[in-house]
Amino acid sequence: MSGQKQKITRRACLNDLLGLLWAPFGGGGNLFATRPPRDQFIDMAEIKNLFIQNRNWSEEIRRKQPEFFEILSKQQSPRYLWIGCSDSRVPANEIVGLLPGELFVHRNVANVVVHSDLNCLSVVQYAVEALKVEHIIVCGHYGCGGVQAALERRKLGLIDNWLRHIRDVHHKHAMAVESVLGPAKLDTLCELNVIEQTLNICQTSIVQDAWARGQKIQVHGWIYGLRDGLIKDLGMNVDSVESITPTYGKVLARYHAKK
Ligand code: CO
Repeated sequence: MSGQKQKITRRACLNDLLGLLWAPFGGGGNLFATRPPRDQFIDMAEIKNLFIQNRNWSEEIRRKQPEFFEILSKQQSPRYLWIGCSDSRVPANEIVGLLPGELFVHRNVANVVVHSDLNCLSVVQYAVEALKVEHIIVCGHYGCGGVQAALERRKLGLIDNWLRHIRDVHHKHAMAVESVLGPAKLDTLCELNVIEQTLNICQTSIVQDAWARGQKIQVHGWIYGLRDGLIKDLGMNVDSVESITPTYGKVLARYHAKK
């Protein structure tokens, strides 16, 4: 097989795998239509390539700053906690230009913050109480497959229970979402999901306790555009218990004013 053909087959395998994973969420669609035989999925050369790229990455960083990993291995002191979607197109550090050690990250499908999710809450607790981050950023993205699946009320199995949280957001803001037509409907629900999850962060005992003892923490709700790579501030910036309700009310008023 020629090099070119091999490359195409590898890409087809990757696309097919991604398609299998994300097609149910609307993330793949026609892009991932082809499916090669099963044995073609095993491609050790592609995995080995990741190690080569890792070596190159490490060497490039050490070339610029020889002590980088040595210093970083002793301590991390990020100023930011990022709560984002697992979507591979929204790599947290890269889109805000931060290096390893500068951003503490938690990601899940559709950047959901649930008060009974020990995984997310443990990350928030560690970030607030041990790392003493100054900012917590909830960053969603337009075209989110998880939000789309919730909007379309698709039956996907286990994940329906997770996406139920977004359907609750839809239900809570049905008027604002349903008054919008076409692709903007999904955009609106993606934004409202960020706003609600940012509110959830503000309402955690962890953040509220931190504010009560005078710790400075700002919570932010942002959304990322897959088409232009730009982040938009949704105006949900909260730095105290007192500012939660007025800020939330002001942000939501924009959606009501749109109608
Ligand atoms: Co997403």
